Amino acid sequence: MSVAPIQAGRSADLRLSARLYERLSRLVAGGKRAAALAYLEKAIGEVLPLFAADPVIFGARRTAWLVRTQLLLEWGRPAEALAWTCLECQLAPSPDAAGEASALRDRLLRQLRLEFPTEPGPTVAAESQWPGMAGMFDLRAVLERDLITPLRYPEDARRYRVLPPNGILLYGRPGCGKTFIARKIAERLGWSFTEFKPGDLGSIYIHGAQEKIAKAFEEAEQQAPVVLFFDEIDALGARRDAASHDGYAEEVNTLLAQLDGCAAKGILVVGATNFPGKLDPALVRAGRLEQRYFVGPPDFAARFALFRHHLAGRPAGGIDLGRMAARSEGYTAADITYLCEQAARLALSESKRAGREVLIAPAHIDAAMRAHPPTAVLDSHTAIGFRP
Ligand SMILES: Nc1ncnc2c1ncn2[C@@H]1O[C@H](COP(=O)(O)OP(=O)(O)OP(=O)(O)O)[C@@H](O)[C@H]1O
Ligand SMILES: [Mg+2]
Repeated sequence: MSVAPIQAGRSADLRLSARLYERLSRLVAGGKRAAALAYLEKAIGEVLPLFAADPVIFGARRTAWLVRTQLLLEWGRPAEALAWTCLECQLAPSPDAAGEASALRDRLLRQLRLEFPTEPGPTVAAESQWPGMAGMFDLRAVLERDLITPLRYPEDARRYRVLPPNGILLYGRPGCGKTFIARKIAERLGWSFTEFKPGDLGSIYIHGAQEKIAKAFEEAEQQAPVVLFFDEIDALGARRDAASHDGYAEEVNTLLAQLDGCAAKGILVVGATNFPGKLDPALVRAGRLEQRYFVGPPDFAARFALFRHHLAGRPAGGIDLGRMAARSEGYTAADITYLCEQAARLALSESKRAGREVLIAPAHIDAAMRAHPPTAVLDSHTAIGFRP
């Protein structure tokens, strides 16, 4: 496969030179995808500062965007292409360029089945409706459509014969935000939140738990409407054929029986797991944890927002958030929290040594990144929000 030059205007060609295309084509032809994207990222980061207003830079950046988008689409990564396209819609220098970017954005939204309504309505996931949540726009849109809207508008949902779910499952690698999202769902609904995890004292996960499970649901009913969150639910609802102790199958049976009919009692069960394959199939069938959402490492838009969120209010300077987001592919949300904390620690200790304020700078984040490589292994399903 080769990279076909994209028509992006004369000014762009001044910076995105033939040499760049040549090198990129070689990497792509050699199947070196990660290296090709890294090369493009380097070009964008070093040669084309993302937010510079110079029209030449705008044109060149736009060409780089088109090449990246084209590669991501060809490599089956439409969500990442969408993230770049949304950014381009914001940055586009002219109405023509903005029109082109938004046409591509709409096509990708349709392809990912994430159409947004044109009129504001109950399904619009405005940022202010999920305060404190960085990025994850595609996951929010899907949750709004599948979960929040039917639960917030039960009468309308009944008319459409859309039943609210008894439960949902969030699955994916550690540190990507499953527990965080469960809490945000409760906040978004304005419901109470009760959490169970294996380490709790007197945990319902500990064997001999049938009564405790039944009691947990009874108490939840008193607090309804409530989000009942089972973290690491694989410890409680693993396949019965792989039973870890006598009586385990009965415990899973109790959980299954309790799950039936939760929606009618104002209980939404949210389970989270890093190991969806370990779960008993009966737990994830229709009527139980029937909607399943993959929570992967944050995509570009989420990483951008996570850096912004974690640096806000800290003494920082000279940080190009777009560059940080581009460089941090594969880092989880927890990793990015850590990178910002670590960068703050480095700047603080420098400022104490220097006896003056030292701002958190790109060099501090770079140093934190070098010491802490990304924990997520990248694959074609890394963008947040994909369903199985
Ligand atoms: N979209 C987000 N915006 C802001 N902070 C986030 C976001 N996603 C995750 N975080 C933060 O990242 C950290 C890790 O998230 P969380 O604990 O929810 O991950 P997890 O998927 O539940 O991990 P584990 O599988 O290890 O339980 C938390 O501090 C959380 O607040
Ligand atoms: Mg968790």
